[in-house]
Amino acid sequence: MIEIGVLGAGTMGSGIAQVAAQAGHVVHLVDVNESAVHIAKRNLEAVLSKLVEKGKISIDEQNATIDRIKYSSDMLSFQNCGLVIEVIIEKIEVKHKVFEQLEGVVAKDCILASNTSSLSIASIGSVLEKSDRIIGIHFFNPAPLMPLVEIIPSVQTSNETLEIAKNLIASWKKTVCICKDTPGFIVNRVARPFYGEALRIYEEGIADFATIDWAMTSIGGFKMGPFTLMDYIGNDVNYAVTESVFSAFYYDPRFKPSFTQKRHSEAGFYGRKSGRGYYNYAEGVEFPKPNEDKIIGQEIFERIIVMLINEAFDALFLNVASREDIDLAMMKGVNYPKGLLQWADELGLDWVLSKLENLFEEYGEDRYRPNPLLKRKVKNLKLV
Ligand SMILES: NC(=O)c1ccc[n+]([C@@H]2O[C@H](COP(=O)([O-])OP(=O)(O)OC[C@H]3O[C@@H](n4cnc5c(N)ncnc54)[C@H](O)[C@@H]3O)[C@@H](O)[C@H]2O)c1
Repeated sequence: MIEIGVLGAGTMGSGIAQVAAQAGHVVHLVDVNESAVHIAKRNLEAVLSKLVEKGKISIDEQNATIDRIKYSSDMLSFQNCGLVIEVIIEKIEVKHKVFEQLEGVVAKDCILASNTSSLSIASIGSVLEKSDRIIGIHFFNPAPLMPLVEIIPSVQTSNETLEIAKNLIASWKKTVCICKDTPGFIVNRVARPFYGEALRIYEEGIADFATIDWAMTSIGGFKMGPFTLMDYIGNDVNYAVTESVFSAFYYDPRFKPSFTQKRHSEAGFYGRKSGRGYYNYAEGVEFPKPNEDKIIGQEIFERIIVMLINEAFDALFLNVASREDIDLAMMKGVNYPKGLLQWADELGLDWVLSKLENLFEEYGEDRYRPNPLLKRKVKNLKLV
């Protein structure tokens, strides 16, 4: 079994180290910051003890996993690794520097991966001499619990690198989806309207946060409404992803960020972690009650779901991923109750299209333009 290197012992790095070690690999967890290494060690050991308490793993498994994780602040530990996953700060200039250093340390056939959420894999790989070994391996937070991993080959990635990475991550009992090196990959691109359209509906005064959340959970069947979810993710983090996707798409209006979210983030209303977001999480404060008007609820759900479906069609249209992977990614990466393309079939493609056409006509805004693939499919269906 190959040894795995994980560079960056923060939230994601320690989670990924846990997954690889539980799958039986010797893992070298490295961070420049020694205190981050100590904190990661303490947290990982606590998490493994909890798993024993809950009866999820045996004491032997706990001890073996602990033994397999080696902690260090020196990249030289990666010398014998077959794969190193970089999980450091999301800044391209820092990643460039680190990948140059990594190549000086690792073996010739070691695969070099990045867990980046928003940066281009091609750009990260551009600093490597042997750039066909670069690949994106994108885990979701928390890595040990979320089943999805997006694998992103870039223009430089060899088929061999892709095959090894795909098989390895699948052997860690993860659901693997392959996706093109495009902004937001699958999930962070296709999910944008879940937040963006909900914010827009609120800004237009159609409904408040609680009502929009109620519509999406009780009518749509989503586990969390958009505002509860944004508060959970953190408005600062979610806003930063939206902004980065918007600029990466050359300011396509479909991805335009919202002032409401920007102001919440600026005010420090990050959500659960700061005690206040769209909702107030202080002890004793009651959550606002939704207006459970079925007609308004249905209208909210329909508007958000057709926007999500349109985005899923766009990803399919531009070959970002296969139809199966686009649906799987949304179910396994963000817990959607159904894949969006399957959902579209159930709702009826002509119904989805007419709903989008109505929005496009009413607003005259590019964000509502129906995807050409959706239009083509409806035309074909009508010909049958
Ligand atoms: N947090 C998430 O929900 C999430 C989800 C998926 C992907 N990601 C991506 O994972 C990466 C890390 O995110 P995170 O949330 O774990 O960050 P984090 O801030 O929790 O951890 C980053 C760690 O990297 C270390 N570090 C910084 N520069 C370094 C260097 N030059 N060498 C070695 N270590 C260095 C820091 O000391 C820190 O411990 C980012 O690329 C992020 O986009 C994050």
